[in-house]
Amino acid sequence: MLVLNKVTKTYDGEKKAVNQLSLEVAPGEIFGFIGPNGAGKTTTIKMITGLLPPTAGQILINGVDLATSPVAAKRNFTYVPDHPEIFSAIRGIDYLHFLADMYDVSAQTRRVRIEQYTQLFGIYDFLGEIIQSYSHGMKQKLVICGALLPEAPLFILDEPLVGLDPLAAKHLKEIMGKRCAAGGTVFFSSHLLTIVEQICDRIAVINQGELIACDRPERIKNGSNHSLEEIFLELTKDA
Ligand SMILES: Nc1ncnc2c1ncn2[C@@H]1O[C@H](COP(=O)(O)OP(=O)(O)OP(=O)(O)O)[C@@H](O)[C@H]1O
Ligand SMILES: [Mg+2]
Repeated sequence: MLVLNKVTKTYDGEKKAVNQLSLEVAPGEIFGFIGPNGAGKTTTIKMITGLLPPTAGQILINGVDLATSPVAAKRNFTYVPDHPEIFSAIRGIDYLHFLADMYDVSAQTRRVRIEQYTQLFGIYDFLGEIIQSYSHGMKQKLVICGALLPEAPLFILDEPLVGLDPLAAKHLKEIMGKRCAAGGTVFFSSHLLTIVEQICDRIAVINQGELIACDRPERIKNGSNHSLEEIFLELTKDA
């Protein structure tokens, strides 16, 4: 579903924010992307979502090359960024219709899904208000609802659980699980290692732009009784 082939990003000068990163994420997987602050997670996600061009390397989404067929590749995923910076002068409902239009979600389907997801996340009653009036968490829930609407095969999230209340976090985790059970794919970054350990089929650890581990949680722990947090701290102690 998602293939990264020796993807590298250099911002300015010599330092590589991401260095020769190769990954394959299969359909049906919940894939966790972890690493210390500044390790290169957001940079990688911005390259996967087409927001930043890689300096080198190739990204395939559902077999489509993001560099040569960006629109076709982007139809295969939706994305929840780390900060919910969205249009503030329009109403929540307008934002959701805008996203539904982008992904050709039919009028009937969008009506059902908008109600279903916004009721679940408790923002249904606020959809008629302009986004500027939303709290940080409400904006984040709106972005999540918008990203859920198209039910694209790949769901990409950058630290989605930060700022969500416990009930919303629980709902989001359940939706991620359901998406994967139905054959979809979830790729997300997080610092919440207990949750990552609980819900992910596989985990990649990135440190200083380099992939240092990529495996099932129990294999990353290598049969030890240590928590993922302890293993993570050991793996990244030079960060
Ligand atoms: N726009 C930019 N210009 C220059 N350097 C940048 C830019 N964005 C990120 N970097 C650098 O790239 C490296 C990786 O940053 P990135 O934001 O990808 O880290 P991250 O793993 O998402 O960290 P965090 O856990 O704090 O979100 C860091 O050294 C950072 O300083
Ligand atoms: Mg980040």
